Amino acid sequence: MQLSSLKQVSSFKSAGKLVTGHGAAQQLQLYVQSLGMQHPLIVTDSGVVASGTLDIITEQLIALNVTYGMFDQVTPEPEVEVVEMCTRAFNAGKHDSVIAVGGGSAMDIAKCVAVYADYNGPLEELFGENKVAQREIPLIAMPTTAGTGSEVTNIAILSDKAQQMKKGIVSDCLLPDVAIVAPELTLSCPRSVTAASGVDALVHAVEAYLSNFATPITDALAVKAMNLIVHALPKAFANPNHLQAREDMATGSLLAGLAFGNAGVGAVHALAYPLGGRYHLAHGVTNSLLLPFVMEWNKLACVERFQGIAVAFDEPVAGLSDDEVANAVIKRMHKLCADVEIPSGLRSFDIPEADIPELAAEAIKVERLLRNNPRVLTLADVEAIYHAAY
Ligand SMILES: NC(=O)c1ccc[n+]([C@@H]2O[C@H](COP(=O)([O-])OP(=O)(O)OC[C@H]3O[C@@H](n4cnc5c(N)ncnc54)[C@H](O)[C@@H]3O)[C@@H](O)[C@H]2O)c1
Ligand SMILES: [Fe+2]
Repeated sequence: MQLSSLKQVSSFKSAGKLVTGHGAAQQLQLYVQSLGMQHPLIVTDSGVVASGTLDIITEQLIALNVTYGMFDQVTPEPEVEVVEMCTRAFNAGKHDSVIAVGGGSAMDIAKCVAVYADYNGPLEELFGENKVAQREIPLIAMPTTAGTGSEVTNIAILSDKAQQMKKGIVSDCLLPDVAIVAPELTLSCPRSVTAASGVDALVHAVEAYLSNFATPITDALAVKAMNLIVHALPKAFANPNHLQAREDMATGSLLAGLAFGNAGVGAVHALAYPLGGRYHLAHGVTNSLLLPFVMEWNKLACVERFQGIAVAFDEPVAGLSDDEVANAVIKRMHKLCADVEIPSGLRSFDIPEADIPELAAEAIKVERLLRNNPRVLTLADVEAIYHAAY
């Protein structure tokens, strides 16, 4: 057997159990019991609390006579310090388990706390890939956005203010025991969050589909995710109470999370990280700014793969060349981002063009993601993409 064929072996990661569909939030009590949670800490943020989304969670815990604590100080795109604060709350309250209820920000903090609260050492030691040896604290994740897919990924993303960069902990120990993906929890999502997190989910699916590490399993997930999201996102944006659109977005985001959690994401995310770290823009917005331009760049490496994306989008492709199909897909991306009112162009966010060399110098360091990208990028290429997206 040739060594190259061994690279084809892959294993598939997910949360321990996936609970999905309208009404799934009501099932929390079953898993609180089966995981033996006696004194969980709910990790969330003030926006989720204000929306009333937590009532369905706390009612079930009260009915079970389970006393719980709540940490609601997670900030959007949270900084490393939030992990420290939340861990102090976990240990001071003598909690035994974690329930994340929120978007990617709350889920990522909860995932970090579940591995860090009983770790003897500084948090920095856990940054990077496979630095966490074990997790003993039970963890349930309930997304309220659609979304990051964080409920099924082995990644937690934190902002490092000093380095103006996003950092990740990557370890299978971060995979939650149970992911409860209940579309009803997303109904109160503000329009701008629906838009940004929805585009993030779409980018996950597209980048997983074009990834060098895509497999038949991740392709199937990514294609279905793209199909659901491209149709449902404009509807969920236009009418937040559109139940079918919210359900399709929740499912699409979950499938996209499973796809990229295994195939990885690529240059869109690598180039988005410095924008998020430096200018504190929402993660989905930074992805939206770059997506069409990175796709344009990637076309040369894998133009035939755009056919699969076009089919997923229900884009008419009969009689078109590969190049025309790819162009139609990219045009559709521009339109979708515009439809959900995410401004295009780095200039729209007052990002100085003179910052591009520094942004590029940061992005090129994100080797963990760039190695997934179908087309190789040099520093000059990265700068060119930022200029195109300006
Ligand atoms: N770990 C991963 O796999 C992964 C993947 C992608 C992104 N991320 C990270 O996730 C973060 C972004 O997460 P996000 O896009 O889900 O947004 P978020 O968690 O930052 O939430 C954004 C805002 O929406 C509000 N909100 C969320 N759900 C709500 C609801 N149902 N009702 C009312 N308000 C609600 C929150 O209060 C918050 O103010 C970033 O830090 C990003 O880097 C992680
Ligand atoms: Fe993302």
